[in-house]
Amino acid sequence: MTSKARIPADLQGYEVLVAVCGGIAAYKVCEVVSSLAQRGAGVTVAMTEAATRFVGAPTFAALSGRPVLTSLWTEQASADPQHIRLTESLDLLLIAPATYNVIGKVANGIADDAVSTLICASASPVVLAPAMNPRMWANPIFQANLKKLGEYGFETVGPSEGWLACRTIGRGRMAEADEINEVVAKRLKMSPPVSLSSDQKTDD
Ligand SMILES: Cc1cc2nc3c(=O)[nH]c(=O)nc-3n(C[C@H](O)[C@H](O)[C@H](O)COP(=O)(O)O)c2cc1C
Repeated sequence: MTSKARIPADLQGYEVLVAVCGGIAAYKVCEVVSSLAQRGAGVTVAMTEAATRFVGAPTFAALSGRPVLTSLWTEQASADPQHIRLTESLDLLLIAPATYNVIGKVANGIADDAVSTLICASASPVVLAPAMNPRMWANPIFQANLKKLGEYGFETVGPSEGWLACRTIGRGRMAEADEINEVVAKRLKMSPPVSLSSDQKTDD
């Protein structure tokens, strides 16, 4: 006998793109993707080259039920470039873990891989979950970049203080999966799914 799902599909109809970057906390993003998918959201994962060294793309493909984008140059199913198609009807872009590097690139208009190109092509709200060593977090160049993204409307969740993989205790630990999911769900529910509003459009 199979048991019935108890998790409410409260995110049905919403499309979320999760951009995974190269930090140890990438393993926690597996839980984020799984939970969003179980709540009914359509989840697509894109990974930086560094991210694939921490978690394999097949893990995210299995958890999301969709192919994972790791390169701008993989064969495409349609004639549209993937960075445009994947950002077309998007409700939210989550960057987790958001590395020092990717935050610096986005804040300075760099689009040189799949993840940074998707981010610059997206017009949807963005939630960032930074994770890094406390000295990287405190670096004034990084803080200026993060402030700049905040001014452009990017929302940041975490990091908290705690035990870090670099075997120190300090600020830079990525927010836990539950906290990230709650911020994402709250942000999504502020508007109906983009796909619903585009379905209602008529040609004129
Ligand atoms: C074991 C290990 C752990 C790392 N953890 C982090 C991290 O938590 N945060 C971070 O910003 N960079 C971290 N880095 C460095 C990034 O992987 C590196 O800057 C990389 O170029 C980031 O690429 P991306 O932003 O394209 O994913 C780590 C590197 C290694 C080898």
